[in-house]
Amino acid sequence: MEDCTFVIFGATGNLSQVKLLPALYRLDVAGRLPEGLKIVGFGRRDWDDETWRGQVRDWLAGKATDAEVLERFCERLYFFRGDLGDEQVYPALRDLLTSGARFSPNLVFYLAIRPADFGVVSRLLGTVGLNQEDGGWRRLVIEKPFGYDLESAESLNLRLNRNFQETQIFRIDHYLGKGTVQNLLVFRFANLMLEPLWNRNYIDHVQIIHSESLGVGGRAGYYDGAGALRDMLQSHLLQVLTLVAMEPPANLDAESLRDEKVKVLRSIRPIPQSAVNAHAFRAQYAAGTVNGEKVPGYLDEQDVPEHSVTETYAALKVFIDNWRWRGVPFYLRTGKRMKTGNSIVSIRFKHPPQQLFRETQIDRLKPNWILLNLQPNECIRIEMQVKQQGLELRAETTRLDASYCGINQEQLDAYEALLLDIIEGDHSLFLRYDEVSWAWKVVDPILKVWAVERDFIHTYPPGSWGPSEADRLFIGQDHRWRNTLENDEE
Ligand SMILES: NC(=O)c1ccc[n+]([C@@H]2O[C@H](COP(=O)([O-])OP(=O)(O)OC[C@H]3O[C@@H](n4cnc5c(N)ncnc54)[C@H](OP(=O)(O)O)[C@@H]3O)[C@@H](O)[C@H]2O)c1
Repeated sequence: MEDCTFVIFGATGNLSQVKLLPALYRLDVAGRLPEGLKIVGFGRRDWDDETWRGQVRDWLAGKATDAEVLERFCERLYFFRGDLGDEQVYPALRDLLTSGARFSPNLVFYLAIRPADFGVVSRLLGTVGLNQEDGGWRRLVIEKPFGYDLESAESLNLRLNRNFQETQIFRIDHYLGKGTVQNLLVFRFANLMLEPLWNRNYIDHVQIIHSESLGVGGRAGYYDGAGALRDMLQSHLLQVLTLVAMEPPANLDAESLRDEKVKVLRSIRPIPQSAVNAHAFRAQYAAGTVNGEKVPGYLDEQDVPEHSVTETYAALKVFIDNWRWRGVPFYLRTGKRMKTGNSIVSIRFKHPPQQLFRETQIDRLKPNWILLNLQPNECIRIEMQVKQQGLELRAETTRLDASYCGINQEQLDAYEALLLDIIEGDHSLFLRYDEVSWAWKVVDPILKVWAVERDFIHTYPPGSWGPSEADRLFIGQDHRWRNTLENDEE
């Protein structure tokens, strides 16, 4: 693996502290970092290399087990002081990074800063030539949100493209770094027995659900301007949908994979503004009691405007109008302050065509399910019907746990995989701009309607699975939300 330097803009922020530095450290422990990898923290605080190293030691306290690796890791750290909007500091940054042999000519600019600052930093890097790949590669990493709607995503992209080529840009969706999400591809395309079933002839519907037990906490300032549809559904859940629904790619290179994902997004039937209410549902958590503790409603959270109708719960029904999926509903749903925090993809099969057991004690046969739990437990489970023990002909559900269940989560951090991919220049798990743009096209009509319908929003009790009114999205009488691995009846 080639040496390189990570320049982290926003080195003092939450993302850097909670995700980036711990992930880089763990990669060092695993011996996966190139020897000459250095990390330059860019920040406006009055810090020097030693303060930054001390800070990182504090952040890693409790996580760092190996004193020797920690020292080696801290020696990789440098601090560059500057305001990211100040063009005067960029020539000095260039000189630090490019003169002498201290730093590798391969540079990663990691923008762990407000999305509103992405444009200015990429422009100022360009003005001092730090975007030019002379003698080494240059990569720009950004985290979602990629825009606020279709139009702002387009304008952000135009700004980035003025100085960085698409091949230099890595758009992170940390969901895609999760083991089970990648396992979706292996599960689907390494098992011949699934492919004949994976279509409209056998699959009744698909659900992709992400629920969180916490409220917005201190993040209301950001969240109120975004809402659940933008924050989770447009990004993570639509990405998962593409992996469930895509055709086998020509090969596993990044472009072939991303081409197939884009084809899925392009095939999603557009939702006209007049049909938004039939396809989408939003709600907000009310105040209440969870596990004996009083919790505030969304409107009572700090920094939430008095009459906000920002949704903390969003559900969406889409159809993919292609040969494989036409007519199969995909239900996507996310919410905060739900009963438990969990993410799951549930694929429900149709009932057998012949009701062979009608005259027996098996009154209602349950359908087959394939369940892919993404978090907190990574698990793939298949539910089938078998005969119960005993003289009667009764059926019961048996579960085949196919993979991963119960594995130690500590070993499976999404960021580590993604950081290695950045160093290796592998774009497979990063979003290409057309994916971002097509995903915005799916939700844009809904955002437009919700932006003007501002006088009412449903509420749901905290600690629940959300409002029952959302069930109106179901097209089948026996469709129910499959919230977790266990609760097939809820
Ligand atoms: N936190 C997460 O888990 C998470 C998850 C997914 C995506 N993201 C994305 O990651 C990005 C960063 O989020 P965050 O939670 O880390 O935000 P944050 O805690 O507010 O950090 C922002 C960083 O930007 C720095 N900064 C702001 N203005 C600056 C300026 N003029 N000059 C130099 N530095 C400046 C801040 O420095 P000071 O310390 O000096 O203020 C701080 O280090 C955002 O795009 C966010 O959407 C974050």
